[in-house]
Amino acid sequence: MRIGVLTSGGDAPGMNACIRAIVRTAIYNKIEVYGINRGYSGLLEGDITPLSVYSVADILQRGGTVLRTSRSEFFATDAGVRQSANVLEEYGIEHLIVIGGDGSMNGALALQKLGASVVGIPGTIDNDLGFTDYTIGFDTAVTTALDAISKIRDTTYSHNRINVVQVMGRKCGDIALFAGLSGGAEALILPEVETDLDAICLRLLQGKDRGKLHSIVMLAEGCGNYRDYCVKIEEKTQVTTKGTNLGYIQRGGSPSNMDRNLASFMGYNAVLSIAKKETGTVMAQRCGSYLGIPIEEALQMPKIFRQDIYDMASVLSI
Ligand code: F6P
Repeated sequence: MRIGVLTSGGDAPGMNACIRAIVRTAIYNKIEVYGINRGYSGLLEGDITPLSVYSVADILQRGGTVLRTSRSEFFATDAGVRQSANVLEEYGIEHLIVIGGDGSMNGALALQKLGASVVGIPGTIDNDLGFTDYTIGFDTAVTTALDAISKIRDTTYSHNRINVVQVMGRKCGDIALFAGLSGGAEALILPEVETDLDAICLRLLQGKDRGKLHSIVMLAEGCGNYRDYCVKIEEKTQVTTKGTNLGYIQRGGSPSNMDRNLASFMGYNAVLSIAKKETGTVMAQRCGSYLGIPIEEALQMPKIFRQDIYDMASVLSI
């Protein structure tokens, strides 16, 4: 049997741990494994090489993806999907494992609809997929954001300021929510919650009246740019307000314990399910268990906003 693996879309810490788990589990089970470079772009171009036990040595702890990644516009077309399916056939790749986010999983579904055998693994720092509690890379991104918040807090305290910290997340505010909770942010601005800036500023001022010397506002990028918020918050509170966009630092770095384990479990189980001829699924972690869910069904599962965490964060940061 021959399988292929690719990483696609935005990279995420833990993708390498996942590739390693796939390659080693495959070889252990006498399955040939090919690495497809640069995501769907590399698949379209036949940029494909066999992988060995040694090609994945020493990558467990590395951020990024050794297979590299891309966002291919051509792949998103019918012609692109057809061409990709042909390349898989040409290389004798019977099963394909796709590690990536929402767009990548939709690509896997399109390939499956053309008859390809695929298994998806959720890898994105955004944690924006409804079918799994956690995606590979999210925990590391939150840990990076948390480290930044702690540092920003030091200087924000010294100067008695407000600091707006912008993190990634276009439609999903999970990075801001989880880092905001663990970093004790005084206010959260998330795409899932209607923003009432007057109420936020009132809250910041009430905290100041009670003796708070500084405040952190977590902002998910989907709600706008931190610069605009700084101007408005400073105007309304009359407190000097600075801002920081954490940017791509959130996508890099050595994966956390949780991401390495999540990636290893998902990679291992993806290969085992292929060995059992159970494909057309995505790997998920739900309530602590690992399972495969049919791709189409999985992609229809809505992402549930953790209102309970939001409410708790609001109480704890008064
Ligand atoms: O990986 C997800 C994500 O980081 C989003 O939060 C962000 O908006 C986007 O990717 C940016 O990615 P790029 O600039 O690499 O296309």
